[in-house]
Formats: sequence, structure tokens, C-alpha cells
Amino acid sequence: VGARPQFIKAAPVSRKIRKENTEVLVHTGQHYDENMSKVFFDELNIPKPDYNLGVGSASHGKQTGKMLIEIEKVIMKENPDYVLVYGDTNSTIAGALAASKLHISVAHVEAGLRSYNKNMPEEQNRVLTDHISDLLFCPTKTSVENLKKEGITNGVHNVGDVMYDSVLYNVEIARKKSNILENLNLNKNKYYLATIHRAENTDNKEKLLTILDSLNELDEKVVFPVHPRTNKKMNDYGRNKNYYSNIKFIKPVSYLDMLKLIDNSIKILTDSGGLQKEAYFLEKACITLREKTEWIETLNNNYNILVKKDLDKIKNYVNLSIDINKKSEYFGDGNSAKKIISKLRIDKSE
Ligand code: UD1
Repeated sequence: VGARPQFIKAAPVSRKIRKENTEVLVHTGQHYDENMSKVFFDELNIPKPDYNLGVGSASHGKQTGKMLIEIEKVIMKENPDYVLVYGDTNSTIAGALAASKLHISVAHVEAGLRSYNKNMPEEQNRVLTDHISDLLFCPTKTSVENLKKEGITNGVHNVGDVMYDSVLYNVEIARKKSNILENLNLNKNKYYLATIHRAENTDNKEKLLTILDSLNELDEKVVFPVHPRTNKKMNDYGRNKNYYSNIKFIKPVSYLDMLKLIDNSIKILTDSGGLQKEAYFLEKACITLREKTEWIETLNNNYNILVKKDLDKIKNYVNLSIDINKKSEYFGDGNSAKKIISKLRIDKSE
């Protein structure tokens, strides 16, 4: 693991693995700020990593390359039965590639997702990781179908989504424990929750500023936890946060605080993959500021709406009414981690 969404995915799986097996946890150090990393380990009770590779930020090639060198050393030393990798980040492809080259079985959690937008680094990471994985744990039927189209059928299992496990396990805890609404002086159903961090939205000045201007026009306050990438870009573009009177910019929040913020918001506006699903699990309408999404099931019944081009007219999309009563169980039953562990064991005993 290395980036924030991976800590959330690893938590339920790690908990189950360690009941009867040994796990060696490797943190690449892709995310290193306390509020992007340590807080998730603390809150989700993820054991301290056995290795922290301290790779940090760099260009894609350099970051991934450094990870590859360091992960290879760990795998050679530990000689595991499996290397489990999660999601679609640079840490995912580095782990999968290092293992595959050493002929160690690779298990990919969240396999088969496709946005069919090859410009996204995440899409490159997904496709490459899937093609060198031995076990592919898909969260949805669509992801199984996507793999089939690419000729991958062996070792493919639809186990449901580990992020659903995480939400079910933590939402009540968040409702009781998180004080974020009081701390930010927010009232239930009186704010929108927004997050923007993807390269496709932040690397282009005009695009990021259009999105922020558009959010600033909404009819209720917008709470915006700012990812470090977005923070850096706003500074680079010379845009002060005080410029936006309707947006409340806050530091990145912990997982429990995020669940509480989602649960009490009017709607979600995001480019995050994870947040689109968390909105769905918690029955909140989502407006996704991206050309495409890999979570196409959430688009049914307008639960999730894509804003592809009209980033200056977000308010028109926010006003669309959405039928939130027709939710289906596309993402499994919340026992995904258990299914993953049993498949790993069967595979090794065969
Ligand atoms: C990465 C993942 C993305 C995931 C996201 C979740 C890739 C290609 N992308 O994007 O799929 O949705 O994590 O957050 O792996 N930074 C800090 N402190 C940190 C981490 C990052 O300041 O703790 C800053 C650095 O300036 C860095 C920038 O954020 O250059 C981007 O970080 P990086 O990990 O490269 O990608 P993310 O945009 O976070």
C-alpha cells in the first residue's frame, strides 16, 4: 500500500488475513503527510507497516521506479506466497511488477475496473496490473466482463467491494465518534461535500479554476477537504482560498470524519473513485466531475451523474432530481475480505 484509498481497502483484508496467516505489510511512502497516511492506520487499526520504503513524491517514472527497486528487495527477503496489491495507484503497479518478475503470485484487489481513458495514470496502472496478476478479485459483474473482453478469465473472482466492507464496519462508529460537524460548525443537510484531486482536473489551470468558480455559485455552502496536489496547484495558479466566499476549504480529513461528512451532506461533488461509491453506499446523490467513470453501476437511476464538459454549469446538475430509492446491491454483501482470504487459501492448496 502507499496511497490513501489503499489504506482503506487494506484494512478489512489485513484484519482477516492476520486471523490465521502471516501478513508482511509494506508501505511505499507514496503518501507521507500525517493526515494522508498515519491517521488512517490509527483510526482503522491497521498494523504498523513492517517496511516503510519512504519513496515520497516524484515524477511517475521516478516514483514508480524507486518503488520497484525497494519492493523487489522486500519480496526477495520475505519470499511470500502472494503479493496482494490494491486499487490503481503507482504503488499498485510497482508491487505487482516486482512480484511478477520474481515469479511470486500476484493477487489484485479491485481488479477489472476500466474508465477507458488511457490518459489517466490510474487506468494505465489498472490495465497493466490486471495483465500480470494471478488472482483477480473483482468488485462487480462489470469488472469481470471487462477482464473477459481483454482475454482474462483465469483466476477471476467476483468477491464484491472491500470498500463496502469498510463502510459497513465503520459507519456507525463514525456516527458516534466523529465530531467533525460540530468542529466545522455545520448543520445536517445544509452543505455540499466536494473533493477534487485528479491530475485531469488539477493539472490544467483553467479547468481547476472553472470548477472552483462553479462550486462557489452553488446555493449552499461547499465543504472542500483539500488534497495536497490540489493545494499545491492552487498556490501555483496564484489563487487564494479567500477568493471563494461559498467554499469552506479544510485540510484532508480522516476516514471516520469523511463518512460523517458524506452521511450528513446534501450531495457529493467529486472526481474521486472511492467517494463515488461511498456516496452510493450511504445513499447520497453524487455529481462526478470527470469524462468517464469506472463505477458505471452508480450511474443507474442518476444516483451518480457525470459532468463531462459543462464544468462552468455544475449548479444545473446539482439541481437535477435523483431517485435515491432505487439502489441495487451491485457491490456484494460486505463480506468481500472474507471471500478474498478463502480464495487465496484454496488457490494455494490446489
Ligand atoms: C494518488 C493516486 C490516485 C489516488 C490518490 C488518492 C497514482 C497515480 N495516483 O494520487 O489514484 O486517487 O493518490 O489520494 O498513484 N502529496 C503531499 N503529501 C502526501 C501525498 C502527496 O504533499 O502525503 C503531494 C505531493 O506534492 C505530490 C502530489 O501530492 O506530488 C501528488 O501525490 P501522488 O501520490 O503522486 O498522487 P496523488 O495525486 O495523491
